[in-house]
Amino acid sequence: MTDRVVVLGAGAVGTTAAWVAGRDRLADEVVLVDPEPASGASWVAGGMLAPITEAWPGEREVLELGAASLARWPAFADAVEHASGRSVGLRREGTLSVVVDAADREDLDRIVEHLRAWGRDAERLTGRETRRAEPTLGPAVRAGLAVPDDLAVDNRLLLAALRAAAERVGVVVRTEPAVRVAESGGAVSGVELASGEVLAAGRVVVAAGAWSASLHPALDGLVRPVKGEILRVRARAGSLPPPTRTVRAAVAGRAVYAVPRDGGRLVLGATQYEVGFDGDVTVGGVRDLLADTERVMPGIADYALEESSASFRPGTADNLPVLGAVPGAPEGLVACFGHGRNGILLTALTADVVGALLAGRPVPDESLAASASRLTALEVSS
Ligand code: GLY
Repeated sequence: MTDRVVVLGAGAVGTTAAWVAGRDRLADEVVLVDPEPASGASWVAGGMLAPITEAWPGEREVLELGAASLARWPAFADAVEHASGRSVGLRREGTLSVVVDAADREDLDRIVEHLRAWGRDAERLTGRETRRAEPTLGPAVRAGLAVPDDLAVDNRLLLAALRAAAERVGVVVRTEPAVRVAESGGAVSGVELASGEVLAAGRVVVAAGAWSASLHPALDGLVRPVKGEILRVRARAGSLPPPTRTVRAAVAGRAVYAVPRDGGRLVLGATQYEVGFDGDVTVGGVRDLLADTERVMPGIADYALEESSASFRPGTADNLPVLGAVPGAPEGLVACFGHGRNGILLTALTADVVGALLAGRPVPDESLAASASRLTALEVSS
């Protein structure tokens, strides 16, 4: 049996898996396969590490999983920076969640109640207090929630650092499409590449995000694309400075966020649609993102618009990732996809899970809700 691990997908999760496998010498050779590394949802992400402000009533396991990963993030960021010699741009200023109308204020109250019932506190602020905290917020903001523990990271710096860290520990990167996981006698035998070459492997980590379902029939229907569009804007000379914290807002029931980057930049996101793999950035999506952001931060109108992008969150039926051995899949296939809205956040916990799975150790208890063994009961709706 070849002691080679192939990781399919070089986003944040897959590159982390490859780096961990190489760093911990979990195979003789680690190969990371992706036709376009550091693209897809990881490239388009906002980089929020925000389990509390992303929490939604009824999704307690998503919150707990995210919180377990957030607790690992400072050490994970240090480890990646040390291993790569590059910054990942971790921001520790925290997050403000704000609302502009009465119905959204009720939603905010409900979220606070749920958080308290789950033993997590968040400070309620008046509109005036939110503006004192972030002077760039406009008069339409009626109330807010200060969540200092919800952080952010520069997803693109993270991707570059992870790639450098992976290459430093000997991970081989192959920039070509993979067609499917090959098997023989009920076990993984390798990966068939688009060129026809079969890359022999004893274990294959499937970390191809929304594209994972096509890589083996046992994965069919387990993950679906949930499109999101983002904008990148930059404060110009004379513009109102951007907020120092991540600002999340609910505007007429729609969620929008602005995540600070260095150089006066902000990532504005994100729309959400169930439209398959339609990757166009739409006029309506851009309009909504700009209008909703401008409602809470009027000064944004003066900013330079630098980029609009779309990609696909890997969505699952219960909004939890799929980690480990999938029922019905060949032995040696390690699922590592379905991180939904929380891929960057969950990367730190996933690093420990993949390391444990490849080493044959028990996974961290906090990750059990995401175990692929639950899948017998799960069906994906599209
Ligand atoms: N986590 C942000 C998003 O999915 O848009």
